[in-house]
Amino acid sequence: MARQRHIDTPPAPPDEAAREVAAAERTSERAWQAALRPRTFEDYIGQRDLIDNLRVSVRAARENGWALDHFLFAGPPGLGKTTLAHVIANELGVNLHVSSGPAIDHKGMLASLLTSLGEGDALFIDEIHRLAPVVEENLYPAMEDFRFDLFIGEGPHAKAVTMQLPRFTLLGATTRMGLLSAPLLDRFGFHWQLRYYEQADMEAIVRRSAALIGVPIDLGGATEIARRARGTPRIANRLLRRVRDFAAVERDGAIDGDIAASSLDRLAVDHAGLDALDRAYLSVICERFDGGPVGIEAVAASLSEERGTLEEVVEPFLLQVGFIARTPRGRVATAAGYQHMGLVAPTKAPSGGQGGAQGRLF
Ligand SMILES: Nc1ncnc2c1ncn2[C@@H]1O[C@H](COP(=O)(O)OP(=O)(O)OP(=O)(O)O)[C@@H](O)[C@H]1O
Ligand SMILES: [Mg+2]
Repeated sequence: MARQRHIDTPPAPPDEAAREVAAAERTSERAWQAALRPRTFEDYIGQRDLIDNLRVSVRAARENGWALDHFLFAGPPGLGKTTLAHVIANELGVNLHVSSGPAIDHKGMLASLLTSLGEGDALFIDEIHRLAPVVEENLYPAMEDFRFDLFIGEGPHAKAVTMQLPRFTLLGATTRMGLLSAPLLDRFGFHWQLRYYEQADMEAIVRRSAALIGVPIDLGGATEIARRARGTPRIANRLLRRVRDFAAVERDGAIDGDIAASSLDRLAVDHAGLDALDRAYLSVICERFDGGPVGIEAVAASLSEERGTLEEVVEPFLLQVGFIARTPRGRVATAAGYQHMGLVAPTKAPSGGQGGAQGRLF
């Protein structure tokens, strides 16, 4: 479990932030993406309605010495859930302790995590839908009354001891809101489904990251990368890095629309942002299963891919852009999905269209 930096430190000045990003690039992509994270509400691009709500709660908590409610963030990978947890702790001026559902694999682990918290600290549990039932049950009194019940000794001589915990804020993240148990969901003061980012926000994210890595980019370049990044900041950063490589090797290092488009074509990211797996998924439904309806298990078996990956990563975006739809009998390809694949849609295919379908997954 990592203890994160204390918030009272002022935000890093831009050149220091850029140095941090450059150093992180020499370690791993994960570290690099983390170094690009916004650290304040001000810096966090997009999701405005969520950020506005959080600003109010954080300010009320800070000014009145109240404990911030427990918050849960849901949404597909790479939309900024972990980033939000860091931003909230930073804005609250408290330490953030980081763990995840699968890592807290027994009650003792949870006890040691909770007892290491300081007054007012935030605890981030990623993949919270993967907590073991016994751990989850013991989390309830901790969330409700900041209390943890321990049994000391065994058999008839076991004694129940109640430990008082410091007031803390639990920040949970999940890619699968639907897998969360109702009692756990109930104990969060607030839960929020993060949305895919709009084009303008994606462009702002690409420009911000390009500035941090010191790569010149024009409007055409930012637009092209943003458009092909599946509405997902992590993907935008990843594509930016790849395009930067092409621009450095084949040009003078600056990114414009042409080099962005030609690099992304070569990386097999199409103009709607679909990657090879997205297209394989669509092609299986359109061609092998005649447009559906088809069950997720059959699609997963055809692709030799995990069902969970399809449900968490591939389908939310294809639903969002209206290339597939879900029916009680399974997934179907829409006319827009056929068209995107360059195929002629059968008359039975629903028309699809842009947006709106994301919510149905959860
Ligand atoms: N609102 C934002 N503005 C700018 N950059 C962002 C924003 N949200 C996320 N990012 C960038 O995208 C990267 C991925 O975000 P993050 O790790 O928070 O996603 P996540 O939702 O926790 O994903 P996962 O479900 O895979 O854990 C971050 O490292 C950060 O660089
Ligand atoms: Mg995360």
